[in-house]
Amino acid sequence: MLTTFGCQMNQADSQRLRGLLTKIGYTETESEEDADLILFNTCCVRQHAEQRLIGRIQSLINHKRRNANLIIGVAGCMAQNMQAEMLEALPLVDLVFGPNDIEELPLLLQRAANGRTLGSFVDRGAFDGDSADGIILNRPFSAMVNIIRGCTNFCSYCIVPYVRGPEISRPMAELKTYISELAARGVTEITLLGQNVNAYGRDIGLEEGFTQLLEMIEDIDGIRWVRFMTSHPRDFSLAAIKRIAALSKVCEQYHLPVQSGSNHILELMKRGYSREKYLTLVDAVREHISEACLSTDIICGFPGESESDFADTLELVEKVRYESAFMYYYSPRPGTKAAEMADQLSEEEKKDRLARLIEVQNRISLEESQKLIGREYEVLVEANAARDQTDLVGKTRSGRSVNFPGDNSLIGSYVRVRIEQARNWTLSGRMVTEK
Ligand code: SAH
Ligand code: SF4
Ligand code: F3S
Repeated sequence: MLTTFGCQMNQADSQRLRGLLTKIGYTETESEEDADLILFNTCCVRQHAEQRLIGRIQSLINHKRRNANLIIGVAGCMAQNMQAEMLEALPLVDLVFGPNDIEELPLLLQRAANGRTLGSFVDRGAFDGDSADGIILNRPFSAMVNIIRGCTNFCSYCIVPYVRGPEISRPMAELKTYISELAARGVTEITLLGQNVNAYGRDIGLEEGFTQLLEMIEDIDGIRWVRFMTSHPRDFSLAAIKRIAALSKVCEQYHLPVQSGSNHILELMKRGYSREKYLTLVDAVREHISEACLSTDIICGFPGESESDFADTLELVEKVRYESAFMYYYSPRPGTKAAEMADQLSEEEKKDRLARLIEVQNRISLEESQKLIGREYEVLVEANAARDQTDLVGKTRSGRSVNFPGDNSLIGSYVRVRIEQARNWTLSGRMVTEK
């Protein structure tokens, strides 16, 4: 059994882990009870993520007592960050390895069967994603493709550059071959991944590499929809938006993490853009891409954030009217600059601001969703809806989930759906005609 925490990069790594495990004879179990291997692919971006994992692992003690062959493994960013400390801190854990050790998993498992084992955590430098099987389990028509790994931005609050290493782009020619192979295997939708996709190519001497990459994918037969995340507002140029607007396969889904609406805080965060530059970017997206769906990430309670800085964030949220937002309160990460800053806010204050922000955004999300009622969208049918076996769930080009009645045989195809109901993020509707 494999559980994934954290961002899409971790989701993609988990697909690679699944691929490797399937090759060496493992099948996935639904519950921890039946498993001989319990793997956690972890995140350490916020303290909360770490605590949740520790709690989960401690709760496995009875399984471990019952099954002497059970291997408990911790992979991902928290493993990379803590390494040997993790084995010390968690006696139930048999195996700890980092994102660069994924290809070594079969070997590491053999060693773990004979005693507690630590991965090598060596940064292999090159992009090691070429053997990746990015096709999403149970969704053979959809794949996640890592285009750039690591991050070199060092936003002052963020631990990712320390655990994931520097930016390394996957060569364009290799991506072309890989995505063409995916298309030949029936994949029609791809999601390009990176902490900062707009920096794609920068380290391998390409200018406007990300736009070039999207233009290259536009010509690959079989691929119908292309998504990407995450965009970094600093590196997303207006010229790029105009060129991307001309590409028919690129979906109208823009995740543009703003983090704060205050220039003072943006500077302390080392984000490299101002509120004004960010808003210009939003205007350009709205002008050139019709029905663009905008989402964002926001941190509240950053060190030194005054009530007026926070008011700037609320005001920006009202102005942009995001369809959705991931909102967090600031969590100090040891080793980052912001953790050392003066004027850390109290837990109470941070939580209070987060609650106020969520309230504003939830209202906007609902209002924006309700605007979609009565409209028709093309939807890629993804799966059965969890709550009802006769309902299907699919995604619009803009990345909105829609539930609607329909037959399982439609999974993987593109249908037209008219939206009838809207609850915050999830929409429901009815199929119009099949394509
Ligand atoms: N590369 C992406 C974000 C990756 S981390 C970008 O630059 O936008 C995902 C989100 O976690 C961030 O956007 C940020 O909002 C949040 N985050 C990162 N570090 C955090 C911290 N120390 N405390 C709270 N939230 C944090
Ligand atoms: Fe973290 Fe900033 Fe890199 Fe995003 S761009 S992963 S927030 S350092
Ligand atoms: Fe978390 Fe690692 Fe992603 S720290 S957000 S899983 S890169």
